[in-house]
Amino acid sequence: MSDMNIERRHILKGLLFGATAGTLLTARTGRAASGTGENSWADVGAAFGPFGSVLNLNNAAVSPQPKTVRDALARAYQFANELPDVNMWDVLDAGRDRTKEKLARMAGCKPQEIALNRNATEGLCTAIFGIDLAAGDEVVLSDWDYESMRNAWKLRAQRHGVVLKTVSFDALASDDEIIGRYRSAITARTKVLHMTHMVHYTGRVLPVEQLCALARAAGDIQTIVDAAQSFAQIPLSFERIGCDYLAASLHKWLCAPFGTGMLIVKQARIDALWPLLGPLDEQPQGLAKMDGWNLGTYSSPSEHAIEAAIDYHDTIGTQAKHARLRELSQYWIARASDIRGFKLHTPMADPQTAAVTLFSIDGFDPEQLEKRLRSEHNVRVRFRKHARLTGVRVSPHIYTREADLERFASALRRIVTTA
Ligand SMILES: Cc1ncc(COP(=O)(O)O)c(C=O)c1O
Repeated sequence: MSDMNIERRHILKGLLFGATAGTLLTARTGRAASGTGENSWADVGAAFGPFGSVLNLNNAAVSPQPKTVRDALARAYQFANELPDVNMWDVLDAGRDRTKEKLARMAGCKPQEIALNRNATEGLCTAIFGIDLAAGDEVVLSDWDYESMRNAWKLRAQRHGVVLKTVSFDALASDDEIIGRYRSAITARTKVLHMTHMVHYTGRVLPVEQLCALARAAGDIQTIVDAAQSFAQIPLSFERIGCDYLAASLHKWLCAPFGTGMLIVKQARIDALWPLLGPLDEQPQGLAKMDGWNLGTYSSPSEHAIEAAIDYHDTIGTQAKHARLRELSQYWIARASDIRGFKLHTPMADPQTAAVTLFSIDGFDPEQLEKRLRSEHNVRVRFRKHARLTGVRVSPHIYTREADLERFASALRRIVTTA
């Protein structure tokens, strides 16, 4: 068989492969997108796991994938191993455009504004290190931003003399207070506003749309939105937010394979943005400079299975998912809020708040609470330390059942009442 024929055979196999995977997926996960209520989520719970006896309430770190995604990944991995260079780059990668189209629909941007990569860190660092800045230019960020992003900006300050203006506000500050803090940090030298859409410490959703409007009104200030926690957890639209750069991990709330992420760059900003890595192509066009083989060899099977995660997500829909995640937070909080000394550091009154919340108990060291929940009750939550407060972060996911949250609240009550 000639090389050409082998290639055609694989492309055909790949197309069939993709179609079969898609059909199976729909058949297995097809559930009417429902509203809220425990019973209507039973099949979603069953689509994940099995998890054994550990209760995972730390999904804000990274999410498990439903079986359909694991199956799509396993099939693609096996297929890639039959003839890696052809099956990955010619066959599996033929689906990348379709994946970007689906992601673009979810994220409210154009497919050609999306670069696929490994995680939010890579996407955000591409923007942080890729925007042209001179010594003395100012960047406004917040002490609630993710640690590696603040550290990336510190590197730029050390290397290029960029001046960082770090704003701070209370965990329960109002939108107006937050906007006021950013506004007062902006000067004539401000060139970038870096914002986190959903703060990873507390789950607080920042008013990024208003902050981007503020940046536009103040002049040519470029805006970066860290959507690692918000994408696929709460409704989000790149165009509506009005930022220049937005990056997200796909292995968090979308439940795509580990090590998948995306960077969205507004069309008008693409040409001026420097790539983070040396591209393979001499003159990559558009966002190709931070995508595909211009990032070196990447995991085509993992990227391929992003589509299965989007398809699964679409059987539920972002609105219904958000409503359910919010309902789960409300559920455990209602069962724990009368525990002596219980304090919530997340504004549940904000209708955007969803699965991620932070609490503390007066008189209890949150780090010890995290350890005791794990060692005595097999419940995994996450201790979080911020300059303004420390607490325990709780983050259920759509597969979490109310009985799980009863177990968590009882465990917490037991620790506190037996002290
Ligand atoms: C707000 C925020 N930004 C960025 C990241 C980094 O994400 P990744 O590990 O996918 O790069 C995280 C991870 O938890 C996060 O919560």
